[in-house]
Formats: sequence, structure tokens, C-alpha cells
Amino acid sequence: MTHRRDKQRTKIAVFGAGYVGLTTAVLLACAGYKVSLVETNDERLSVLKSGKSFFYEEGIDNLLAEGIKNKSIELTNRADEGMRDAGVLFSCVGTPDKPDGSTNLQYVFDVAKSAAKQAISGAVFVQKSTVPVGTGDKIEKIFSESGNKLKYVSNPEFLREGTAIIDSLWPDRVVVGGNDSTATEKILDIYRTIDSQRDDLAKRAGLAPRTNVISRSIKTGLNSAELIKVTSNAFLALKISFANSIAKLADQANADISEVMDAVGADSRIARSFLNAGRGYGGGCFPKDVSGLISSAEEYGVDMPLLVAATDINDSMPRYIAKKLEGALGTLKNKNVTVLGLAFKAGTSDARKSPGVAIANIIAAAGGVVVAYDPYALKEAKKDIVRGVSLEFSLEKAVVGAEAIIVATDWPEFLEYNLSVLAKSMSGSLFIDAVNAFDPDMVRRAGMQYLGVGRR
Ligand code: UDX
Repeated sequence: MTHRRDKQRTKIAVFGAGYVGLTTAVLLACAGYKVSLVETNDERLSVLKSGKSFFYEEGIDNLLAEGIKNKSIELTNRADEGMRDAGVLFSCVGTPDKPDGSTNLQYVFDVAKSAAKQAISGAVFVQKSTVPVGTGDKIEKIFSESGNKLKYVSNPEFLREGTAIIDSLWPDRVVVGGNDSTATEKILDIYRTIDSQRDDLAKRAGLAPRTNVISRSIKTGLNSAELIKVTSNAFLALKISFANSIAKLADQANADISEVMDAVGADSRIARSFLNAGRGYGGGCFPKDVSGLISSAEEYGVDMPLLVAATDINDSMPRYIAKKLEGALGTLKNKNVTVLGLAFKAGTSDARKSPGVAIANIIAAAGGVVVAYDPYALKEAKKDIVRGVSLEFSLEKAVVGAEAIIVATDWPEFLEYNLSVLAKSMSGSLFIDAVNAFDPDMVRRAGMQYLGVGRR
């Protein structure tokens, strides 16, 4: 009963229609809340109004179309309109990195300042954007100086691109940190409302429900909540860079990184996930969250040498792959190379800081003739691609005449492709598995030379 009353009472404004904001908005709208989604980019807004997301994310279009149809979600580019009558405001705007690696908080403060001016008194302002520790204190100061009795809650988001809806419906944990227990309880109540409908929401999104997940709610202090988010991402990035540095050793020592990490990860204190070696991490989160944490720690006078090392190792990986290629071909000059996968991982059209793009660019800069293909990310990758890399729109065409293939994203389309057909399409026989996702023996049986990252 509490849930139903709460839904009737609360209008929710969501700021920013990126991966976090759009996922949050459509789930709230389909769970029965009246949602106003504020997106200031007009091009994106008009795509959203047609019932489609401007990025590829499984399941999200179904919920967006449903919310628009039943009028539970309204889309606007005006913050004042979004905030009108809203008792809860979710800030999900971007926090990109600046050239020096620190976090650009301009959008975060813009939203907070306009909330201080225009939100209804006593509304709860929820920070879902990833911000450096201490940001909430600064925003609370803005609120108290404005005289508006807004309450601030830090509620970091842990969803992954590609599984955004399912991660949000079955989170490992919901973290809420703040100084006002009524406000944090109000936010937890919203999560309980979504939680009580999660099987149905997954079904309406067209996705299979997740099983055996125990979601925990964790209440913390404000600064701890902010630090939990960046610490989680930095730790996962550390695991990947650690795996990659051991993979380089495995390459020299004739060991196999998959065998090593399967056994290392079987120790429940360590766990197997995020120990997959390959071309390194990319995307809109890990690279900037790690550099943002290094930079925000510096402001507190604390060095983070572990994270500096993790970044250096990660930055070295695309070049490491290109070196493998050069080692096998003798030179990169005028070599026909096909790079498969420009998204920073499978399941998304996102090509921000993508290792596949970096690999293609490095080979082209060294004189290689590069063809690149991705099932969803070609449009987003285009702006970062250098001259010398041509984009191809079909997998079959992309591999024709290649002297070497590099797989940089583990899209099912690549994993399921007939390897004998692939081998026949090529003019050479070198197959570099930069995501360690293929069975080396199967690749060899198809007549190709297999090279992975740290694999025998
Ligand atoms: C990450 C966090 O996982 C998520 O909790 C947070 O909310 C946002 O940042 P995301 O960036 O969507 O999510 O992708 P993730 O699945 O974590 O992968 C990040 C990168 O690491 C990808 O490039 C992926 O290919 C790479 N990766 C991941 C590895 O190289 N090895 C691994 O073992 C795991």
C-alpha cells in the first residue's frame, strides 16, 4: 500500500538521457511513476520522442515506447518544466574527463544550481552521476545558501552498458548516502517499488529475468557513497590491468593466462570476474573514473600510484596488440588488416575510448591498410577513426583479402562466424584474438595462425 500511495504522490524529474538517466527514467515510468526526462541535446531529444534510444541498449526502446504511449514519461529540454511539481530529482548528467584527467563537473553543478532556484521546497535531489568525493558537500552548501530546503542523497549507479535494464532491476547493491534519513528512506522506497515489479518489467522490456541475485540496500554517509562508486570502478580496472600484465609474462613464459586466471579466480577471496586479459578496458567509465580518482585524491594530498600503473598498463595494450601483429607479419607497412569490433565491449554502440579504435588507428598510422567493422558502433566510432582506416558495413565484406584479422570486441556475430569461411575469405592466415574469446585449436583447425593475449 505504501508503494501505491507513494507513486500517486511523487512526480520524478530525471536530468540527462544517457545510459544511466534513460534507464532510470524508463524503469520509473513503467513502474508507475510520473516522470519528466530532461535532455538538453535537441537532436537526442527528437530521437527519444520517436520512442527510440539514440544508443543501442537491449530492451530500452520497448520501455521508452510504453512510457510515451501511456504518458507516464514526458520528454523536455527545459529544466524548469521537468522540475515543476517534482518531489524527487535524479541527476544523471555526464561527468566527462578534462584533458588533465580530472572530472568536469560543469553539468552536475548546472543541474544543482537550477534545482536550488526552481525545485519545489523540500524535494529530494539524488546524485546518480559519478562524482569525486566531496562534491555532495559542495552541492549541499549551494542548497543551503539558496534558502531552498532541498535534501541531498548520493545514490551511485553501478549498471553496465549492454545490460543496463537487467543490472538496474537486479543490482548487487543499492547504495544511498546522505545526511537526512527521511530522504534516503524515500529513495529506498522508490527502489522497493521497482523491485516488487522487476520480473514484469524485464518481461515488458523483452528481456529474460535474472535469477539467484540477492540485492542489498546499503546506507552510508554522504562522502562514503561517493567514494564507493569510484572505488568499485577503479578496483575492477585494477583487476583487468593486473590480468594484462600477467598476460604479458605468460606470453614470454609459454603459460596460458586463461588457465592461470581460471585457477587464481577459483579462490573465492579473489573471484574470476574482470580478470580477462586482452586489449584493455575502454568506455565512458573506467578510463575517466580512474583518472578522476587519481586527480581528486591529489586534491586531498594523496598519491594513487597503483591507479597510475593500472592506467599505464591499460594504455599500453592496443600498442602491444599492434606489436604482436608486426612481429608476425614482419612489418605493418601496406599490410591489409581487418579490425573486427569498434565498440568498447559487446552489447553496446558506445565507442568512447575504445581499444578497437585505438588498435585500428595505430596500425593505420604505421602504414597498414586497415578495414574496420562493427555491427552497432560504426557511427559512434567514425569521429575517432584516423585516415587510413576505412569502415565496412558487413562482416563478410570486411574480411575479404585480409592478411590478418584482429578481433577487438567479443560480439556474438564474430564468435559464431564460420571460421573456415573466414579463412577462405582472407589472403593471409593470421588471426589475432585481442579479447581471448576464441578456442585457439578451433582457429588452427580452420587453417589460421592463432595469437591471443597471454595464450599459448
Ligand atoms: C563499468 C562498471 O562495470 C559498472 O558497474 C559502472 O556502472 C560503469 O562502468 P561498463 O563501462 O559498462 O561498466 O563496462 P564493463 O562491462 O565493466 O567493461 C568495461 C571495460 O573493461 C570494457 O572495455 C571491457 O571489455 C573491459 N573488460 C572487462 C576487460 O578487458 N576484461 C574483463 O575481465 C572485464
